[in-house]
Amino acid sequence: MEYDKLKWKLYSTIGSTSMVYYAIGHGKELIKKEYRSDPLYLGSGPKEAFDNEVAILKKLSKYSCFPTILHADKNKRIIFMTYSGPSVYKGNQPRNYIEQLNEILTILERENILYKDFKLQHLRIKSGIVSLIDFGASTEEKQKIGSYYRVIDTNDLGLYTHLRL
Ligand SMILES: Nc1ncnc2c1ncn2[C@@H]1O[C@H](COP(=O)(O)OP(=O)(O)OP(=O)(O)O)[C@@H](O)[C@H]1O
Ligand SMILES: [Mg+2]
Repeated sequence: MEYDKLKWKLYSTIGSTSMVYYAIGHGKELIKKEYRSDPLYLGSGPKEAFDNEVAILKKLSKYSCFPTILHADKNKRIIFMTYSGPSVYKGNQPRNYIEQLNEILTILERENILYKDFKLQHLRIKSGIVSLIDFGASTEEKQKIGSYYRVIDTNDLGLYTHLRL
């Protein structure tokens, strides 16, 4: 796909490390995540974050509960991926929300990914499927026994309470 020719609209400016754009290409909703190159953000952080995110997205793309990575431009530090929908909140939570969250946690454990950036904006929902996004802060390493979490409940805002196993 010729990503440059798509009509990209700014999707989110909140991101501290990136600019995120949205477009439709071949009938599919797409996301372009451009890592910022401001001198302030240069150094080990964003460079590592970009490489981390590409590697981890590649590993997780086979699962439906993470974005599918479509293309990565290492020089420009841009990642193209599928759009995973809006943020989850109480009003759009699927009935099996907690089960889906726990399936996500199970996959992260199995794939030895320490996520390190849990927040509600990183949980998205599309066609009833909950996805976890943003692997810039994640690392691949074996988790120690005692570092596993399970979601046991959510409150009115859709925030979850978890249990350390
Ligand atoms: N695949 C996606 N599907 C849906 N929305 C996305 C996707 N990727 C990014 N976004 C949107 O763009 C925002 C910023 O993306 P992301 O969290 O990956 O970047 P970031 O720079 O690390 O942001 P922050 O520092 O705020 O965590 C997300 O909170 C979300 O709203
Ligand atoms: Mg983020």
